[in-house]
Amino acid sequence: MRRSELNAFLHAAMGTMDGYRFLLPPYARWSLQQWRDDPERARYCHARQIGWEVTDFATGRYAECGLLTLCPRNGRAGVSGERPYAEKIMMVGTGQETPWHCHRKKMEDIIVRGGGDLAIELAFSADGAHRDDAPVTVRVDEAEVTVAASTPLVLRPGSSILVPQGLYHRFYGTAGTGPVMVGEVSVMNDDLTDNFFLGGLGRPTPTVEDEPIRIPMWTDLKGI
Ligand SMILES: [Fe+2]
Repeated sequence: MRRSELNAFLHAAMGTMDGYRFLLPPYARWSLQQWRDDPERARYCHARQIGWEVTDFATGRYAECGLLTLCPRNGRAGVSGERPYAEKIMMVGTGQETPWHCHRKKMEDIIVRGGGDLAIELAFSADGAHRDDAPVTVRVDEAEVTVAASTPLVLRPGSSILVPQGLYHRFYGTAGTGPVMVGEVSVMNDDLTDNFFLGGLGRPTPTVEDEPIRIPMWTDLKGI
């Protein structure tokens, strides 16, 4: 993706979050120079993947397949004294898909915090390449619910779903309801090693630096 796109998407997302009264931590608005002025904090956040991330899942089609995330807290696996939990806030556009994936270590609650409705589809996969047809039993708003595989389950604002380890899922904003602000509460999260995409995805391409960084992503904090 181009830096100009990342800057624009982050600017728009912060405006939407402000509109939904989700109050960002102060560092979420920091410039690269402000991070450079606080290198200890930059190193702490980078080591824990704390901060912004914008991805098109290596598709080149962000509007159809992409996700914008702020991770405000997270730990490191196997390190004593670290948080065993994590939190994220994500912006999901209408029809903007986070593609089929599962986690082997992470159990997560996906929570619609504001805005439109979120459609989520669920399926197990015996071979990691194809979705099984068997129905799936999950917890939605603390009630046990059984849904047909690969069939949209629509979550309204305020609702949440518990996604256990090994359950493949994909989600997107539903038509006509506006951008969705989605929360995630989970065990400690490692996006580099614990996201398993059905059938695999391409490698993310490096950011094309066509303009200066306005708001850095967590990966931009490397080396500060
Ligand atoms: Fe997930």
